[in-house]
Amino acid sequence: MVKQEQRYEIGMVGLGVMGRNLLLNMADHGYSVAGYDVDASKVQALREEAEARDIQGATGLEQMVGMLRTPRAVIMLVPAGPPVDAVVRDLLPHLQPGDMIIDGGNSHFTDTDLRAKTLAEKGILYLGVGVSGGEHGARHGPSIMPGGPKEAYERVQPLFEAIAAHVDGDPCVTYLGPGSAGHYVKMVHNGIEYGLMQLIAETYDVMKRRLGLSDARMHVVYKRWNESELSSYLLEITADILRHVDEKTGKCLIDVILDKAKQLGTGQWTSQDAMELGVPIPTIDVAVAMRSLSAMEEERVAAGKVLLGPVQVFHKPRDPFLEQLRAALYAGMIVTYAQGVALLRHASQARGYGVKLEDVARIWRGGCIIRSALLEHIRSAYRANPDLPNLLVDPYLARELMARQEALRAVVCTAAELGLPAAGLGISLGYYDAYRSAWLPANLTQAQRDYFGAHTYERIDAKGVFHTRWSAD
Ligand code: 6PG
Repeated sequence: MVKQEQRYEIGMVGLGVMGRNLLLNMADHGYSVAGYDVDASKVQALREEAEARDIQGATGLEQMVGMLRTPRAVIMLVPAGPPVDAVVRDLLPHLQPGDMIIDGGNSHFTDTDLRAKTLAEKGILYLGVGVSGGEHGARHGPSIMPGGPKEAYERVQPLFEAIAAHVDGDPCVTYLGPGSAGHYVKMVHNGIEYGLMQLIAETYDVMKRRLGLSDARMHVVYKRWNESELSSYLLEITADILRHVDEKTGKCLIDVILDKAKQLGTGQWTSQDAMELGVPIPTIDVAVAMRSLSAMEEERVAAGKVLLGPVQVFHKPRDPFLEQLRAALYAGMIVTYAQGVALLRHASQARGYGVKLEDVARIWRGGCIIRSALLEHIRSAYRANPDLPNLLVDPYLARELMARQEALRAVVCTAAELGLPAAGLGISLGYYDAYRSAWLPANLTQAQRDYFGAHTYERIDAKGVFHTRWSAD
């Protein structure tokens, strides 16, 4: 008979918002779960929230591990970085070979690889699992992106499938690949999240600062956009945000929020690794850069007194322009997903993840922050052609994009004329134009490199590498 104290199916370390909600979600699906946090008040809060559910709060890590069925499975939901190592270190003396640790946080993929290797030497299975969907997702169904040893995943597969979001009865979780595949996919998810948020912010900026639309009007615009092919979680919450009233001032809350964006790092990691692999993801890079620029508030305020922009006023008919803005945003969204997924494709080959892009699109359709109607088309694109080099050349998406390129060009031009920063939309257009260019001016770059550094160049009319003495001195 299973000892009473060893009857819990899964343990959770870290009872912050995500950990607590995931545990409640698991318990609602019939799992017996135990949770622990260094902060005793969080353990107490879990006990209170547990009600009749099969949830146990532990006052110590050892006590929690002692409650678990063997082989054990412990999920950590603690901040990325040193806290993850600290929990692993504290868990280890209480675990046995065959037990499993699951990191459900936003860990850097290289940390996950290192931890998995170190733990494998001790016979401990390690899963790096991306969980997206914030507080609500954790409680009612997140998108789950697991990577690590397949046999480890199979042990928690029924649990993950039960607690994940479901789209048309299909759970938003699947095994993604070995090692850090899950955390890598989650990192790219967040990179795309940064890109989409930047594009939406640019449309908000144009509407607010140049079209002079009220928050109430913008609420209606975004709500309408969200009922179109742009339908997505991020647009849905944008519409909601624009009608949220601040209790303190009675104003729309958005207007009392300081314009300085913070970042925990996943967008930056996406850009860094894309640079490392030589994969262009400029919309995501710009999104990261614009968050950093927004944070330089004092400098911006000072620069605004020195650097003047154009004195243009917006003079176009408003409604047709709003329609162009909507189309431009959709084009930018397609480009952003295309860049992120192109990075995944390359990284999967370079790092041996074997990630199936169709699966990724499928599990991003529900639960996660970047869920959108577009993902259904992205899924179809990779189902039709798993080796598609870039989403932009999928026949359907290419048509969609081409149909909106004029609008994107018009919006980028208008923003430039009006002196508004629309760097995300601009670079999305630049990416589109560069990617479809059979010829690029890189011959000049090569000539310059050879001129100043004897770096050589290739010719169009002969094989091999060449160097020229460009000047007599
Ligand atoms: C999600 C979110 C989640 C978190 C981001 C915030 O998928 O649920 O992406 O992981 O909210 O990490 O990231 P920044 O603080 O960098 O914006």
